[in-house]
Amino acid sequence: MHTILVATDKPFARVAVDGIKEIVKKEGFELKLLEKYTSKEQLLDAINDVDAVIVRSDILDEQVIQAAGKLKIAVRAGAGYDNIDLKAATAKGIVVMNTPGQNANAVAELIFGAMIYLNRNFYNGSSGTELRGKTLGIQAYGHIGRIVGMIARGFGMVVCATDPYVDKIIIENDGIRYVSSARDLYSECQYVSVNLPANKETKESINFDLLKLMPEGATLVNMARKELIHEPSLLKMFAERKDFRYVTDVAPDCQEQIKAEYPNRYYATPKKMGAQTEEANINAGLAAARQIVSFLTKGDKTFQVN
Ligand code: 3PG
Repeated sequence: MHTILVATDKPFARVAVDGIKEIVKKEGFELKLLEKYTSKEQLLDAINDVDAVIVRSDILDEQVIQAAGKLKIAVRAGAGYDNIDLKAATAKGIVVMNTPGQNANAVAELIFGAMIYLNRNFYNGSSGTELRGKTLGIQAYGHIGRIVGMIARGFGMVVCATDPYVDKIIIENDGIRYVSSARDLYSECQYVSVNLPANKETKESINFDLLKLMPEGATLVNMARKELIHEPSLLKMFAERKDFRYVTDVAPDCQEQIKAEYPNRYYATPKKMGAQTEEANINAGLAAARQIVSFLTKGDKTFQVN
């Protein structure tokens, strides 16, 4: 009998955990739950004797992978798998998967929630601004970018997108203006939503050279990864551009300085919560459980990323 561990520092909604349990039990497998753990030791202990693991942003580094004595598959219930050491997993013959698109709507909705919260001055009663008629640039047109585009059009925004891996025609067919480079996107858009994965190519790629191109009313929205932003550039942008604002779900390391110096132009969620809805938890959690069952029973490797 196989054992599947759900290791989530930030737990799924109960309804999602119940759904995962049902899928696992139906197959005659065992479920082990490790939620809200407070030390790496607990994860090292729990992963030791399981065949499969479901994680969120939980770190599966080399040490954790080494401790996983019989692990065959690790599924990141979500999009970004930068929290998993793929090299270490591959070396041990462990299959790593993600669940692309399953939590995209939740992230996209939060992007608008956060922009409005900032635009309405944190609901403090003073006059704010609207999204209608403003330009929004979508940097990376994946599952999230596409939904952001749809919602933005509903708000009456002028929407542009760029993505080196997506054909112009796909973007244009969605009624969105295609721009061929990040530089063009930043030059033309008052709001830019960063929807990139964090990898060698993208880390710290959002720098002052790019940000300074933004027109008056520059607002950067980052619900993706803090590593995408070059933090000295972020501080420079705040200092040099009195109009610049930043809203994020992944607080930068320099957040205390920003909060102290520019409290009205910055908002970060207290804990990463883009994917934290019941629906997204159900979608991503159950997809992860199904992918594990399908791999363990049929060898199905769809969504493998290593
Ligand atoms: C993702 O990559 O899917 C999102 O960042 C969500 O992360 P979370 O599952 O830790 O909320």
